[in-house]
Amino acid sequence: MKKRKLFNILLPTTLALSASLVACSNSSEQDSEIMLHDINFNHDWQFRLEGQQQVQDINLPHDFSISQNFDFDPDHKVEAESGFLPGGVGYYTKKFVLPELKDKSIVINFDGSYAWTTVTINGTTLGTNMYGYNQFAFDLSDYLICDGKTQNILEVKVENPLETSRWYSGSGIYRDVTLSITNKLHISRDGVYIATPRLADNDGTVIIETEVNNDYISNMNNISVSHDIYDQQGQIVATVSSDATNIPSMSRGKLISTTKVDNYQLWDLNNPYLYTVKTNLYSDGKKIDELLSNFGFRYIEYGKQGFKINGRFQKIFGVCLHHDQGALGAASYNDAIFRQLLKMKEMGMNAIRTSHNCPDKDLVRMCDRLGLLVLDEAFDGWYHAKGDNPNDISCVWGQKVKPNFVDKKDADNWEDFIVKSLVRRDRNSPSVILWSIGNEIYLNNDKQTNVSIAQRLINDIYEEDSNPTHRRRITTGDDSRPANPKEYNWGKEQVTNTVYRNGGLVGYNYGSTDQWAAGMNAYDRICASESASAISSRGMYKQYESNIPNNPQGGEKVEPSHDGSYHLMSYDNCRVLWGATAHEALYRTLHYDRMSGQYVWTGFDYIGEPTPWNGANPGYRDFPLDDEEWDDTNWRPTQLKHAAPNTSYFGIVDTAGFEKDSFYLYRAHQRLDDTTLHLVGSLDSNNYYVDDKGDTRLDVYTNAPSTEIYYDSGSGTPTLLATITRTLTKGDGGDNSPYTYYTYEATAESSQSICSVITRTEDDPLYVGSSLYSSLKLNWDSIKDGSIYAVAYDDNKEVISDTVGTKYLTHPDYATKQMSIRTTTHSNEYSEEQTVTLDNADKALAYVEVSLIDDEGNPIIQTNPDDCLEIEATILGQGQILGVDNGDQATINKFQNPTVLINKTHAKIKFYAGKALVIVKGTDKGSFNLMLDCNSETKVINFKVN
Ligand code: GAL
Repeated sequence: MKKRKLFNILLPTTLALSASLVACSNSSEQDSEIMLHDINFNHDWQFRLEGQQQVQDINLPHDFSISQNFDFDPDHKVEAESGFLPGGVGYYTKKFVLPELKDKSIVINFDGSYAWTTVTINGTTLGTNMYGYNQFAFDLSDYLICDGKTQNILEVKVENPLETSRWYSGSGIYRDVTLSITNKLHISRDGVYIATPRLADNDGTVIIETEVNNDYISNMNNISVSHDIYDQQGQIVATVSSDATNIPSMSRGKLISTTKVDNYQLWDLNNPYLYTVKTNLYSDGKKIDELLSNFGFRYIEYGKQGFKINGRFQKIFGVCLHHDQGALGAASYNDAIFRQLLKMKEMGMNAIRTSHNCPDKDLVRMCDRLGLLVLDEAFDGWYHAKGDNPNDISCVWGQKVKPNFVDKKDADNWEDFIVKSLVRRDRNSPSVILWSIGNEIYLNNDKQTNVSIAQRLINDIYEEDSNPTHRRRITTGDDSRPANPKEYNWGKEQVTNTVYRNGGLVGYNYGSTDQWAAGMNAYDRICASESASAISSRGMYKQYESNIPNNPQGGEKVEPSHDGSYHLMSYDNCRVLWGATAHEALYRTLHYDRMSGQYVWTGFDYIGEPTPWNGANPGYRDFPLDDEEWDDTNWRPTQLKHAAPNTSYFGIVDTAGFEKDSFYLYRAHQRLDDTTLHLVGSLDSNNYYVDDKGDTRLDVYTNAPSTEIYYDSGSGTPTLLATITRTLTKGDGGDNSPYTYYTYEATAESSQSICSVITRTEDDPLYVGSSLYSSLKLNWDSIKDGSIYAVAYDDNKEVISDTVGTKYLTHPDYATKQMSIRTTTHSNEYSEEQTVTLDNADKALAYVEVSLIDDEGNPIIQTNPDDCLEIEATILGQGQILGVDNGDQATINKFQNPTVLINKTHAKIKFYAGKALVIVKGTDKGSFNLMLDCNSETKVINFKVN
């Protein structure tokens, strides 16, 4: 690497970097001192998979599981739980030349590498990181040759010894690697901590703590820092300098400065206003390092009436997300994360739970920018392996960390090291509102051990997020809550009560209405850390005879609805035994004031855990598919014959990013700034529901003041079938409740015998009579030849024409199928044009979404893979296909499986439920064409790559 290149790849440490900040950051280059934090080190790696000869040239991020075959051989330890994709051992090498450098500290940082990652530099092995989700860094200074000509060789061995996670983890260096080159006296890694402890008193005091490393063998005197605080327009709004101090050799010092910003703008969900602190480090008056850190002014409270941000009551509308990105596997591309977050925001979600592990650092930074709240979770379990995964965190829990990681302290066990580096990394992010120390932790009933681990982790967090007024509260997510929580002395309540005693928030995963009531009675600070676990497939309305065994893992509530291709229905009628439908979970959240909010399991379908066909042992699925035999003695299929289903059914959006129907139910209630109007049902003669009385079902997800449902026979005046009206409802505190929401009631037009209203029949009285949406029964024979549509009206009875969702149902013409194409780029602009511009050859992704429609534009939904048309995708020019998907949970022919991704420029994907996805990127500046062939039709999209 040439010297000039090194300077050119300086990346700002802030995403909200204004033009003037770029200018001041660049000024450091003129100081002839190298001080580069977080240089992107993702390029020009070589990779070899153990057992193979072939060495590939790659750039990071990289996942070596997703490109392998879906597999069901128990000897390969593949299982339904982790998506039937293999692990293995990968060898990464990077060769690089550094310019002539003297007396520098050179640190390499891995934001995440799955799982056991051993780093060797120029023949010296530095150690192995034993958890796949945490960031870790090594100081390379003593091992590198910096002479402008000699190649340094970095070797990274990454092992994923299945079984390691209860979901698909991916394998390899799946997040960014960065290099920091600084003077030996430098700002410590993640060493700036910014606290705003007096906001509740309208006081913009900012306390900035700066840790400084003296890596010299001599003591350093007269060290000081100054800080400039910039607003989003790049104006300096405050400046402060610290006193000078001395830092002994090979140690860290801390400098604390306090200043104030007047007339600050609050960071809030609708105005995620970020400030930037530029920290300058001086030695004897000479500037020798600088770092940019973002922060925001916002304060949060939890109490008897729920959650408040900046003094305002606000329900937390959250989703849980696993880290995989469907067809990209675990490879963590910012554009993919951004697309996911925007979809969640579009639905009115305002929070993300990073279940159940440390997220990509850029996910948190994006939430800062988008105004999303983050429940930052460190672990799934502690000292006991979960879900038959002996190689999860439990295998090192309680053990001292041996490698000499940067930031490791001598007393650190792995769990201390992991949780502290998470908190150090994310503690300035205004989006982060909670630190979670675990999810449904399996525990012995050993009070002393459990309480002391919980307290130790809490202390670890408070060591890094240290300001007592400013710091976030701690939580866990736990299920099977007892009727009398405070008195109950079982493992999880020992942990919960320790968290609560330390000011933390109690996280309820699932639970009955009675369990919630007991929890709300016992604790003032409480949230539904996990809820719903409704299961569905996109686009599936037909009801089939079930061949799901009695009492499957999915429980009694699983309707007999799968189609022989292992798809569940799209109506909100399916959930796991321990869970709730979308309606039930949302209704409770809106109804109970004290419940701060919920985190729905899950925002997106993810790879693995295909409940109700899950299974946690190698070659295992809880229930067999049609042609598999069942072994009653061992309660498992005799031998698996299919590596499917392999993705989850829990998502509100499928793996391809296509919205399922429930998206519109959440949107209707969480986005009152916009009208949602969405009909759930189908008139498609290939894909409709009809009950034994000959009625079909139509659900209406809307938030309009009133809505009319019409039947149009195609001749004459359309017939009004029903009217739906909304009622403003208060939370359970009645007149004292700070919350309101709407319930809906439908009235069938009495003259129309073809339509009647379905009333709720849930067992739990809480839900009966109150509905967040209306359901109608329509006589199938009377309507099957026409169309159904809905019209929304505002309070003045004016038509609202601009609504989001499907408000028209009719019969597609199967004879005239064609492709309709929409491309989303990293800027997340939709384009239906033939020419699309991508900004950056390296990272910018384009999501090409293809829908199947007839000549009239009606969607053609097919769910049986045997009937579905296939697209052939070909790239010409400087581009690459990264993966393909259609959201079908029950196929292996998706993602990067060799059956569909033939090579980097050629792929095939079938439509599922009328949609398919191709993800492409540029390989160099220039242009490329993507040709899509389907059913004798060819469409071409031209990409320009800047
Ligand atoms: C929860 C668990 C999640 C997921 C979910 C499925 O109990 O925390 O990780 O497994 O069940 O319903």
